[in-house]
Amino acid sequence: MDILEAKKVVVEENSNNYKGKVCVTGASGFVASWLIKRLLLAGYHVIGTVRNPGNQKKVGHLWKLQGAKERLRLVKANLTDEGSFDDAIMGCEGVFHTASPVLGKPTFDATVEILNPAVDGTLNVLRSCKKNPKLRRVVLTSSSSTVRVRDDIDPNIPLDESSWSSVEFCKKIEIWYVLSKTLAEKTAWEFCEENNIELVTLLPSFVIGPNLPPDLCSTADDVLGLLKGQTDKFEFHGRMGYVHIDDVALSHILVYEHPSAHGRYLCSSKVLDNNQLVSVLSERYPSLPIPKRFKKQDQPSYEFNISKLESLGMKFKSVEEMFDDCIAYFKERGLISSI
Ligand SMILES: NC(=O)c1ccc[n+]([C@@H]2O[C@H](COP(=O)([O-])OP(=O)(O)OC[C@H]3O[C@@H](n4cnc5c(N)ncnc54)[C@H](OP(=O)(O)O)[C@@H]3O)[C@@H](O)[C@H]2O)c1
Repeated sequence: MDILEAKKVVVEENSNNYKGKVCVTGASGFVASWLIKRLLLAGYHVIGTVRNPGNQKKVGHLWKLQGAKERLRLVKANLTDEGSFDDAIMGCEGVFHTASPVLGKPTFDATVEILNPAVDGTLNVLRSCKKNPKLRRVVLTSSSSTVRVRDDIDPNIPLDESSWSSVEFCKKIEIWYVLSKTLAEKTAWEFCEENNIELVTLLPSFVIGPNLPPDLCSTADDVLGLLKGQTDKFEFHGRMGYVHIDDVALSHILVYEHPSAHGRYLCSSKVLDNNQLVSVLSERYPSLPIPKRFKKQDQPSYEFNISKLESLGMKFKSVEEMFDDCIAYFKERGLISSI
């Protein structure tokens, strides 16, 4: 930051309209981009971290957001480079840690590609948070998968935030993404308790909605495949909670701002089996070649109890609304037929 920019920041911080300065890690991602859109609309100054701020293909969409030219700054940081988040986080009152590898399957080594960046990367970010005297609260983007992957689910009791996925079970069935999210969240709780950092975690289910980045993230790509009639990438999802991308962004801000927010928050609208989902979708979008049936997965049935986030005032959009918005976006991009 040069001297002129630093003076501008001081003037802004002292103005009555100043909402605060927050950092969002992994700014170019699907969830983070929408969160930044909502933070800028709410009046925040946002420092976004990306691996390469000069890569226009990855960050161009962020600069088009309303308020970005005046209140967004992008800083280079990598989860695997110790201390690389220091500059971005210093001086921020809030940190939204969303960056994490979102890979279905590792190509060569799950520890290097998924577990280390997720777990050690979270500690890397939290060590930068610890150095920042202005820090008020950290919001970690965890996942509902940290709650529901266990081999002792009672289908009669909806899962809530007290449930944790079993580390042993994740290792046994080799679901590295879920393992990475579970270990990263547990590690974050330990570190923040030891170091007196105020942490709130948000646990979104499968996020549905329009993409701001030009490249589809892996989950959006799975949804596109489903709408084009493919079953392969979607089959293993089995039973899943669904949530609108805008609700995920708004929930991050809600748990950051709400004075009594604490602990973990499931963020999900509705849980459906694959077969229930395709039945809703094929009735609503008869012109799309949506698969008629999936093979029944050998998975326990479960529901989510989402009353904790609802008690803070969150109202979730329906499955129909999230897919309407997602399909309209795919049609606009020419990714599916607009008939
Ligand atoms: N999408 C869902 O359905 C869903 C559901 C529950 C939770 N979540 C969580 O939401 C968060 C964002 O996921 P997403 O769906 O938005 O996926 P995404 O678009 O793939 O975003 C992941 C972000 O993490 C960044 N990242 C990965 N490895 C990194 C590293 N070594 N250093 C710095 N940044 C790194 C990526 O940067 P690059 O762009 O440079 O690769 C990207 O910005 C993740 O924590 C994910 O677990 C997602």
